[in-house]
Amino acid sequence: MRTIGLTFILTLVGVLVLHGQSSFMTSDSVAVFYPARFDAAQHLPSFAVERQLERAGDVPDTWSVAPVFTQTDSTSTVRIAIGEGVDLYGNGEVTGDLRRNNTETVLWNTDNYEYKKHEGKRLYQSHPWILGVRPDGTAFGVLADNSWKQEFDLHGGIAIKSYSAPFRVLVVDAPSPQRVMEKLGDLIGTIPMPPLWSLGYQQSRFSYYPADSVRYIAKEFRKRKIPADVLWMDIDYMDGYRIFTFDPEGFPDPKKLNKDLHALDFKSIYMIDPGVKVDSTYGIYQQGSRGNHWVLDADGEPFVGEVWPGDCVFPDYTRPETREWWSGLYPDFMDLGIDGVWNDMNEPAVFDRESFTIPENGLHRGGGALPASIHRRYHNVYGLLMVKASREGILSADPDKRPFVLSRANFLGGQRYAATWTGDNHSSWEYLKMSIPMSLNLSLSGQPFNGPDIGGFTKNSDAELLGHWMAMGAYFPFFRNHSSKNTTAQEPWAFGRKIEDVSRTAINRRYRLLPYLYTLFREAHETGAPIMKPTFFADIQDTSLRDQQETFLLGDHLLIVPRWAENVQLPKGNWTDIAFEKGDDGYQAKVKLRPGAIVPMTDKVFQSTEDYSNDRIVLLINPDDKGKARGHMYSDAGQGYGYQNGAYALNSFSAELTDKTLKVTVQLDWGVEPNHREYRIGYVKQGEIVYSEWTTGNEIILQL
Ligand code: NOJ
Repeated sequence: MRTIGLTFILTLVGVLVLHGQSSFMTSDSVAVFYPARFDAAQHLPSFAVERQLERAGDVPDTWSVAPVFTQTDSTSTVRIAIGEGVDLYGNGEVTGDLRRNNTETVLWNTDNYEYKKHEGKRLYQSHPWILGVRPDGTAFGVLADNSWKQEFDLHGGIAIKSYSAPFRVLVVDAPSPQRVMEKLGDLIGTIPMPPLWSLGYQQSRFSYYPADSVRYIAKEFRKRKIPADVLWMDIDYMDGYRIFTFDPEGFPDPKKLNKDLHALDFKSIYMIDPGVKVDSTYGIYQQGSRGNHWVLDADGEPFVGEVWPGDCVFPDYTRPETREWWSGLYPDFMDLGIDGVWNDMNEPAVFDRESFTIPENGLHRGGGALPASIHRRYHNVYGLLMVKASREGILSADPDKRPFVLSRANFLGGQRYAATWTGDNHSSWEYLKMSIPMSLNLSLSGQPFNGPDIGGFTKNSDAELLGHWMAMGAYFPFFRNHSSKNTTAQEPWAFGRKIEDVSRTAINRRYRLLPYLYTLFREAHETGAPIMKPTFFADIQDTSLRDQQETFLLGDHLLIVPRWAENVQLPKGNWTDIAFEKGDDGYQAKVKLRPGAIVPMTDKVFQSTEDYSNDRIVLLINPDDKGKARGHMYSDAGQGYGYQNGAYALNSFSAELTDKTLKVTVQLDWGVEPNHREYRIGYVKQGEIVYSEWTTGNEIILQL
């Protein structure tokens, strides 16, 4: 470590400027800065950073993004000057614009109904991470390796104030924002490969009750030929909101329900909250009390607070024994044929406290590498530790299946365990529009697998809103329609034939794009690349794109322009519209194919991923001005871990346009080509797609 003489300068206002900080490079583009008097016991082990930060050299004198540490009695602050014209992004789940300059965000996971509390400046998750993009397209990232309550102030630079001892800061500097995101993936890990079915369309409601209404919804989807993969069970399936139980009247036989859903090619996901009802006759409460598993109040007694079931106690997931107990609850539960788990209310939300959560002086006992500490330290990672234990439990139930967990609360790095949705939004145009920058900033903060409640959660949706939200939501990584109690029905058919058709068309497009989408998930898993990306990723030097938030990229090749978008600035070049259907219903998003891109798509529509096949692939092609285009496709079993032993195929495609032909060469970079796979070219021209014949060889030719 490089140490610069240890001196403290006491300023007039009682702020200590901490000299004597140390720093080192941990790879060619990542520097780590430690404040003087860094107390590892206050901050480590890190929840965000997975990899060991080994010293690889000194921070060069030319390094420009350098934190300055200061301290008062109760707070620690880091200030980072940013150059002229730098655009800031990140901080995870946030309201407001995509560009984060001149914003304030409080990192304190908060159950924020309609995002209306605290002016929407704190939501359900915490991501102490900022991406900065300079005018020339080079970029940097700042990671505050700190779980304590903290605030980000992005007025005129980056200032991070934490209610804790001084914390370390990691700075990434790279030639592009894309490279910064890969470095972030390298530091904090990436999403696990999801089961293919979790990329399908999902239908939820608070709550479908009783079980027969779930069956009814499943049958309606099949009858109406609207593709869908998942139905969601919200809290009312439980017996008096006791987790891991079933309401004897409404859900008397969950195993049978799941079997019936499976017979219709649906998966089922059930909610599990952290709060355990205080009830001496309830097995989970008895077990947890025997095992001493609850978070304690400042007096050392189990903390009791109100959630759905009334008085509850809360598992202390900082304790290894508690995590193990929690994981152990899942195998029997999953054994009922449950496919995935929805962990909600895990900020944790507590109804009868003004802070709406456990008091900051609550006690966590820790264990293993985690020290005992107060809730202020562990609050922001409560959800992360919960979903980590949930995921492990689900995996142990069936080690051959990829778990799927959805979480409301989480922390930077928590994408390793769970996907996310953005909590209780509102059925309105304002929230529909807000969902793009929110999902983009989450995507730029290490969580690519995310999306909002499509159609809006609170209040009533209407035909126009639902139509447009479905037409846009089809391109979000997580695609689930969910709505609250006492709201009007919001299934695709709820507003009549027209919106049903609009929804079906949008969902059909999603299913046809699965070969491409799955390839993007694979990339996210491998490198940490976002799936949904801001428009400016198409041209990082075009600063006029930096605030575009009505459009977004799906991967690198598709630009999504929702139909309602008004302030659209397109990247340069001939981005051409894909004509998926004949005719235009006025709702479907424009999907523009990048010049030089090849996107694989299925030739037909499937009703669920159960009958998905990539045996016949249409290669959508938009040659660039040199007549060239490239693309690739990843495929595997869509489930299980065979891919880790090489059971996958990676194809790359390259195209060449001449006066007379468009020719594509298919190359198998890895794996075994399904010998029956057929390809055809879909030459995308404005307003039409020109197809070649189907071909099994590795050369496909379209005569022009
Ligand atoms: C709050 C969640 O945000 C919402 O999605 C869910 O429907 C309710 N809890 C009821 O479980």
